[in-house]
Amino acid sequence: MKKILFVCLGNICRSPLAEGIAKDYISQNNLDISVDSAGTSSFHIGENPCPHSIDIAKEKNIDISSLKARQVKKSDFEEFDLIIGLDRSNIANLKIMGCKQPLLLGDFGLDGEDIPDPYFFDGFEGFGKVFDMIETGVINILKSIK
Ligand code: 4NP
Repeated sequence: MKKILFVCLGNICRSPLAEGIAKDYISQNNLDISVDSAGTSSFHIGENPCPHSIDIAKEKNIDISSLKARQVKKSDFEEFDLIIGLDRSNIANLKIMGCKQPLLLGDFGLDGEDIPDPYFFDGFEGFGKVFDMIETGVINILKSIK
């Protein structure tokens, strides 16, 4: 079974969406792939996803409300087949932490774009675009490793 880890900074806004979208697609398509998410920082360890991410996922019938943030650890680099950063700063941080070949989500059908960090967005507006970008990248990855 292939294992994929999605990584952002806090593991409360973007990578929990990637995890939730991937798990939903995997269960709908009966794929033999496991998925997790983590943050490069320790800022939000143990916290549930941010409310706007929970809400945008809920609009799409995906429940991420009980996910809990954790920090990337070195053993992840052995355990996971694919480690996917949501933006370039995540990739840079992963490399500093010792991850040899992190991949950028934006390289899967998003013209190499970074997924914008919505933590500092003013309100809910913008989360829809972030959701759609993450969904495109995640589904392209899952299709590519089927
Ligand atoms: P995420 O968003 O990386 O998508 O989970 C952020 C969450 C928290 C912070 C930054 C980004 N922060 O600075 O605490």
